[in-house]
Amino acid sequence: MCGIFGYVGNRTAAPLLIEALRTLEYRGYDSAGIYVPQMGVIKAAGPIDNLAAKMPLELAGTSGIAHTRWATHGAPTEINAHPHSDMSGNIWIVHNGIIENYREIKEGLVMQGIRLVSETDTEVLAKLIGSLYRGSIAEAVHDALKHVRGTYGLAVMHEKEPGILVAARMGSPIVLGFGTDGNYISSDPAALLTHTKDVLFLEDGELAVVTKDSYEVRTIAGKVLTKQPETLAHDFEIVKKQGYAHFMEKEIFEAPEVIENTIRGRLLPEKGRAKLGGLESVVQEIATLHRLQIVGCGSAYYAGQVGRYMLEEFAGLPVEVELGSEYRYKKNYPDKKSALLAVSQSGETADTLASVREGKRLGLRTLGIINAVGSTIARETDAGVYNHAGPEVAVASTKAFISQLTVFALITLLIGRERGMKESEGKDIVVGLKTLPETLREVLALAPKLKEWAKEIATYDDAIFIGRKFHAPIAYEGALKLKEVTYIHAEAYAGGELKHGPIALLGEHFPVIALAPNDDVYEKMVSNIEEVKARQAPVYAFVTKGDVNVAAIAKRVIELPKVHPLLQPIVSTVPLHLLAYYVGVEKGYNVDRPRNLAKSVTVE
Ligand code: F6R
Repeated sequence: MCGIFGYVGNRTAAPLLIEALRTLEYRGYDSAGIYVPQMGVIKAAGPIDNLAAKMPLELAGTSGIAHTRWATHGAPTEINAHPHSDMSGNIWIVHNGIIENYREIKEGLVMQGIRLVSETDTEVLAKLIGSLYRGSIAEAVHDALKHVRGTYGLAVMHEKEPGILVAARMGSPIVLGFGTDGNYISSDPAALLTHTKDVLFLEDGELAVVTKDSYEVRTIAGKVLTKQPETLAHDFEIVKKQGYAHFMEKEIFEAPEVIENTIRGRLLPEKGRAKLGGLESVVQEIATLHRLQIVGCGSAYYAGQVGRYMLEEFAGLPVEVELGSEYRYKKNYPDKKSALLAVSQSGETADTLASVREGKRLGLRTLGIINAVGSTIARETDAGVYNHAGPEVAVASTKAFISQLTVFALITLLIGRERGMKESEGKDIVVGLKTLPETLREVLALAPKLKEWAKEIATYDDAIFIGRKFHAPIAYEGALKLKEVTYIHAEAYAGGELKHGPIALLGEHFPVIALAPNDDVYEKMVSNIEEVKARQAPVYAFVTKGDVNVAAIAKRVIELPKVHPLLQPIVSTVPLHLLAYYVGVEKGYNVDRPRNLAKSVTVE
């Protein structure tokens, strides 16, 4: 979501802050701003380029804070962009999260004669800090946060104390970085990597005071903590498009390497088993579970749905899949033999994180499938598996999704073999996983055909995706991706559901994208496609190589390689991602940054 960066040291701050914002831009990008005590505040609506264009030729100052914004309170205008200031104009703050009691605080401030100029909850916090300032910015922030309810990751500076950055965290990540020529604050470790790998993650309820050669961490309650920096173990890449037109295209085409990286060192071919270091300590416990609850949001939720089919069918483990945004508000019935598994690319999604915390409160063992190393969910779950898919920059999740499915296949193999899966079945899955990268290269070679489809699909206003069993959630994933990057109204249904309502929509203006691999529900899918065809809807079908039945009724058909049924959904996903991408490009949209969306949703 929003990105925060701060620097205090020996270097000229402004260019460094702008560069960091470019790294953070993918998190939220409707406006941006920086504050450097010696230069004042500069803000711009729109992308970072607009902000960069406003930089003066003469730069001054070796400390400052910066922000990319994704609007929650107030439209994405320059006035609402961060940093926001107090009444004196000396205190400036950048904030990620939502101040829940901002109305209450605002009323109190207005009664003191304090005027607010923006519509943001952040400005309320700035004014509150200002009203409590008595000569120390650290103390003023500290006092103000005692009155605040809600979530925040924030950085604050005072014009008269240019050598001090104050940061605090409650539900929204903040990491400190320690370099040779200064110290840093960031909402995302990725933005620190060009400067340092020595970092310190703040926990909820902690506040840090950072100068160019020192730092102090204390709790909002006032207790000074002795926390030591850690070295980021992971080699984060500095992400570039590498010749691709968009990150989304690059990330889809990375599929073979993503699978290789996800399975590397995790297969035991001779035994037909998997080995997952992050779950080693809890394998027996998971293998004897009576029930697993999977939580996630958006695509991660659909990955969980596919995981459910995998674990139930091949590992005999009953699974429930819950939306991260719902889990903590519903009645759950925890027992000692159930566990909670969170799926998240970013590891920061507020709803998924809240589900993990709810799971802990209920006494459940908490597990994670996480891509972002060192993220909050990764740190807060008891055990888990990293995707190793590499950084995902495009807002729409593609490579992380197929990596999540691959991890589910690995967990299914791991747990299945403990719960009675035959060795021969295990070996088949191992072979399937090892050959999957090659299979996906074959699938990616279908790109020109999908470009042709895209030209046609781009002319419609609506689409329905259908699939059954393993492919029902894949249909949902295909529809989500299409609506996200092309703004075409797209829905998805399990094939058998069409006749219970949605079929009323169909006609020659309403294409149906059907997933019909030759699996154990193939014939049922063919019947569903017949029903669609009878309503004159154009059918675009994905079938298994050599299929003749669907070709006879569909408008267009693309043949996909047949793989082990556990892995077939991965093969079917890649062309759906490509299709959404090409339709978005055909329609001339910025597919990497769809309107109204942010990469990592760190607010509820
Ligand atoms: C869809 C998409 C989102 C994310 C969702 C969860 O293309 O990217 O639906 O899947 O916001 O995000 P993570 O996986 O970071 O928890």
